Amino acid sequence: MIASSDFTENAIEPFDFILFGGSGDLSLRKLIPALYFRHCADQLPEDGRIICAARTDTDSEGFRKILEADSKKHIEADHLVESHWQSFLQRVHYLKIDVTQPEDFDGLKTMLAGRENHVRVFYLSVAPSLFTRITENVHKAELITPKSRVALEKPLGRDQASADVINDELAAVFDESQIFRIDHYLGKETVQNLMALRFGNSLFEPLWRNERISDVQITIAESLGVDSRGRFYDQTGALRDMVQNHLLQLLVILAMEPPVSVDPDAVRDEKIKVLRALKPLIGRDAIENTVRGQYKAGAYESGTVPGYLENDDIPNDSVTETFVALKAEIGSWRWEGVPFYLRTGKRMERKQTEIIVNFKKVPHSIFETADGLSEPNQLIIRLQPEEEIRMRIYVKAWGDEITLQPVHLNLDFNDVFQKRRMIAYERLIIDVLRGNPVLFMRRDEVSAAWAWVDPIQKAWQQYQYAPKPYTAGSMGPSSASSLISRDGFSWYEE
Ligand code: BG6
Repeated sequence: MIASSDFTENAIEPFDFILFGGSGDLSLRKLIPALYFRHCADQLPEDGRIICAARTDTDSEGFRKILEADSKKHIEADHLVESHWQSFLQRVHYLKIDVTQPEDFDGLKTMLAGRENHVRVFYLSVAPSLFTRITENVHKAELITPKSRVALEKPLGRDQASADVINDELAAVFDESQIFRIDHYLGKETVQNLMALRFGNSLFEPLWRNERISDVQITIAESLGVDSRGRFYDQTGALRDMVQNHLLQLLVILAMEPPVSVDPDAVRDEKIKVLRALKPLIGRDAIENTVRGQYKAGAYESGTVPGYLENDDIPNDSVTETFVALKAEIGSWRWEGVPFYLRTGKRMERKQTEIIVNFKKVPHSIFETADGLSEPNQLIIRLQPEEEIRMRIYVKAWGDEITLQPVHLNLDFNDVFQKRRMIAYERLIIDVLRGNPVLFMRRDEVSAAWAWVDPIQKAWQQYQYAPKPYTAGSMGPSSASSLISRDGFSWYEE
């Protein structure tokens, strides 16, 4: 995961990176800037082309102007070097295509002719409903070479059955080793650092178990609402959009057994064991251990924001959740009895992604303290907005009394590395180009994650479990606090 010598040190071979949905939001905001940064880092070979394919009626020159207007602004001024940007643009080509029309792939065929020995990446940054249309059409046009790969953005299906259909259709034209299923959280530095922290240090491993850990909390809070993604979001909801993938991936990396090596399958074999060991939440269990919420209008310092139902693209009786909190348990020797509390939501108080590992209290306190050592050791791993790791310990406060006080050992990655943090997509795109699958989800992982999530969705329908309203700018509905306080814990808030 961190450095698999088979892949990580490999130079990137000449390539054609075909970006379907090239004029879409994700492409303009994240993928193009990510490619630009790797271009600046001299990581892309001279003969590496980026072919953006979309329905927009323009040509390569016109598309470069679009990038100039809509992509460049997503690169921080400090990192924008005009000469690099101009040379980067020369790599970018454009192809107008309607991916539902097989004959439109002739143009792509012409562009790729004679380059069969190049690495070929079909990157699908499009609605999932188009995944198989595209793969079928590239297959029919005989564009799939041994060095071809396909990269897909989540969501992969909306339940296990539909994900299986997509995976079967992909398997009909690509080998599993050619399929790269993206969860961009796996490209984040701190997520990879979780592995480094756990398996590169001997300190944590003996403590990483139910004897020493009381509970784990994982929060992905966002301050943004659904805004222009209303139509997609209302069909999806937070459980499918965030829990099935990002939250479960964080849980799995935190809870997995040490893999024997960083070989992609060694890592993914361990990850899937955690997914399979998650205790199912079925029927009433699902209702009792999950909370759904939906934001209503509220205020931030910058002003008031409308509620979810006020979005023009959302039906005004929608019962789609924009917030989920749940209690998960892992049935294994290591984790039996340790609750994992997960929560995520839109329009929460602030953007914050963090993992909190709460250790058990000392068995017997020899100190007289005002708080009775009630704030036990705690490891705080923050992914966003800044990447940092903090450890809470008790120390004696200076003075003539023995007074214990909790303080934090702080590790701020900005201070340590003092360089630009790679955006998740940089790492992921490079890995697709190199053919390193370790940070991508294997078919069985996706399926196992859906298998755990599906019964929750089903129970919500069966019991007509409607989302509880919460005010935009808050940390979610009050029942999310009850979910955890009934076990004697509380959400970590700073
Ligand atoms: C995406 C979800 O996968 O992740 C979005 O579809 C969400 O709804 C986004 O906003 C969050 O990503 P990040 O990297 O900003 O935490």
